[in-house]
Amino acid sequence: MIVLRVNGIEHEVEAGTRTLLEVLREDLGFVGTKEGCGIGVCGTCTVLVDGKPISGCLMLAAQAAGKEILTIEGLEHDGRLHPLQQAFIDHGAFQCAYCTPGFVLSALALLTENPSANESEIQDYLSGNLCRCGSYKNILRAVSSLSLEPKSN
Ligand code: FES
Ligand code: FES
Repeated sequence: MIVLRVNGIEHEVEAGTRTLLEVLREDLGFVGTKEGCGIGVCGTCTVLVDGKPISGCLMLAAQAAGKEILTIEGLEHDGRLHPLQQAFIDHGAFQCAYCTPGFVLSALALLTENPSANESEIQDYLSGNLCRCGSYKNILRAVSSLSLEPKSN
């Protein structure tokens, strides 16, 4: 048994050799974390571990024991969306939304590290997240809208 601390709450799980993505979805019901490629390429399974974006499909659950894990379900508080979630809605930054949890969590890590990220820094940081619907422009607008970088208009 290991203890996983997810969104501030501890859970005892029998993880074996399963990945963090599998345990989050199958045992704990955090199905906002999506499986895309399963091999570390698409970023749909991104969660934050001690504040850093990681691919849940590549990390064993046992490796995350004792760390702070944040999934998309941990962002809303008292029925209010996180400003990044709201920005994605306001800017129409998704179509099917399968990639959205991963993008939002990566963007959160970026803006925590670099609150004034410019467009090129945002593009670089989010380059590990893929959107098959091609919503990149609006994703960039959504994330930029929360950056403290001075805007030209
Ligand atoms: S499902 Fe993990 S990177 Fe694609
Ligand atoms: S909105 Fe469909 S994959 Fe990104």
